[in-house]
Parts: sequence; structure tokens; C-alpha cells
Amino acid sequence: MSTGTTDRTGDYALGRSPEEYERLRGQARVWESATGRLLDHAGLPVGARCLDAGCGPGETMRLMAQRVGPGGHVAGVDVDEDLGAAAIAMLHGAGHGHCVFHGHDVTDGGPLPGAPYDLVFARLLLFHLPRREEVLRRLWDAVAPGGHLVVQEYDLRTISTQPGLPTVDEMVRVVVETFGKVGCDVVLGARLPAAFAAAGVGEPDGTDVAGRLEPLRTGRRLLGATFSSVLPAAVAHGVTTAEEAAAASAALEADVEAHPHAPLLWPLMIGAWKRKPAG
Ligand SMILES: C[S@@+](CC[C@H](N)C(=O)[O-])C[C@H]1O[C@@H](n2cnc3c(N)ncnc32)[C@H](O)[C@@H]1O
Repeated sequence: MSTGTTDRTGDYALGRSPEEYERLRGQARVWESATGRLLDHAGLPVGARCLDAGCGPGETMRLMAQRVGPGGHVAGVDVDEDLGAAAIAMLHGAGHGHCVFHGHDVTDGGPLPGAPYDLVFARLLLFHLPRREEVLRRLWDAVAPGGHLVVQEYDLRTISTQPGLPTVDEMVRVVVETFGKVGCDVVLGARLPAAFAAAGVGEPDGTDVAGRLEPLRTGRRLLGATFSSVLPAAVAHGVTTAEEAAAASAALEADVEAHPHAPLLWPLMIGAWKRKPAG
């Protein structure tokens, strides 16, 4: 029986729900210009072939499709086939009929479907994975000679408000500890050059650091949605209890009322890229 996902989803800290899919779309909109900047830096000429590994809702595939045009090829792979189907419906509805999706687990050891590509991209994928250097190597293997590997990952250490608010700190603790319990690397963004080296990709040709600072009254949405998304895993791993979580959510509402303009600093979004020598 199809569950809408390939098998390796048990240790994924985030949810698989319409709310989580909407959270991913909102998060993608926040980072759209930072990601677009990296795609443009690598260069995506009209007609190019590109891959988004762990494509989620397909928002980066849309950025790729706009750049390569109808003569290009845009592929997305993800373990979540329901989310992939929704991504393709969105992309085809927007006129990007040259986008395709492959249900694929990047940890399964096999080659990436449809490789090689002129650009292989992954955002907020490796963070979640075991043996992430092996996966990074596989992404690099999928890059055509003369093509680029581009990766973006978070460094979660920066999430905070000014002044510090205990309710925000508690939510951040739960999110960061839960990711840690399931084996995520919460500082992978800052470690990307080391990860590239360990994977045999070599030193990145360049890096990029993007940030975001917004008032708590709006920033709370993504914070609250991320907290809710990890909550089942947080409770399962003893990071918090349902009662403590409900109290933290209620306390956050009170803090938002009292400090609507307190600036909330997001995690840093750190990018790194490498061009494969031609021929
Ligand atoms: C945090 S989301 C990021 C989605 C998208 N890259 C973005 O930035 O908007 C992580 C994505 O990786 C996918 N994923 C997790 N483990 C995977 C695996 N082993 N193989 C392929 N995709 C995976 C999830 O299903 C999810 O869509």
C-alpha cells in the first residue's frame, strides 16, 4: 500500500501535514531572494538541466524553471511523494510544464535519477540526514562536467529576540534539542566547507550568508509553526511534554502582545557552491 512516501521517513523530525507543507512554502518565500542570488551566481542559462534534491513544495524548482525556460529541464526529488505531486501540480499550473518529480530517497545509495545535471541544488536537506557526507558526494557525482553543486543550510544558533524572552528561548530550545535528538546537524550551515571537504568535493568556490530580522508579531508565525511541526518528535524524545508545550504556546501569545516589536533574529541561511572542472 502506498503511504505517499518512500520508506526512510521515521527519523524525520518535521511533520507531514498540510500545515507543515504550508510552513515550508512560507519559509521558501522568505529565502527566495537569497536562493535566487545563488542560482544566478552559479549561472543557469536558458536550456540548462537542473535538479533540486529534497525539493519539498517545489518553490526552488519554480525559480529554476523561470531561469532555464521551456527548453530546459527541471527535476525535483523527494521522499515525500504527496508533496512532490503537489509541487508538480503547482509548477504545471504556473506554466512550467518542463518540471518533473521523482520519488527518491537520497540515502538509498543509488545514483540520482536523471543525472547528470548542469546544476544540482539542495536546501535544508542534508541537515536531516544520516551519513550526510555520503549524500553530498552523491549530489556531486550527479553534477555534469562544468556544472555546479549549490547547497544551502541553516545555522540555528542565532535564533533569538532582543531583548531575550524566556518563552522564545524555550521554544527555540525545544526545536534545537529535538533536531539534535534525531541526529540533525543544527550548525551544518557553518560547517558546509568542512562537509564539502569530507565528501571529497573540495573547498567551496564561494560561500554566502543570509539573515532575517523581523518583529516578533510576524516572526512568531514561523517560530510557532516550526515548534508545532517538531512537537510530536519532541514529546517522543522527552524534550518536552504536551502540557509544557501548551503552556509555552500560551506564554508566547502573551509575549507577542507585550513585545510585538521585539526583533526576532532567524537562523542564518548559509550557502556554498563548487564548479566541477569541465571535461
Ligand atoms: C525542510 S524540507 C526543505 C524543502 C525544500 N528544499 C525547501 O528548502 O523549501 C526537507 C525536505 O527534504 C525531504 N527529505 C527528507 N529526507 C529525505 C531523503 N532521505 N531523500 C529525499 N528527500 C528527503 C523532505 O521530505 C522535505 O521535503
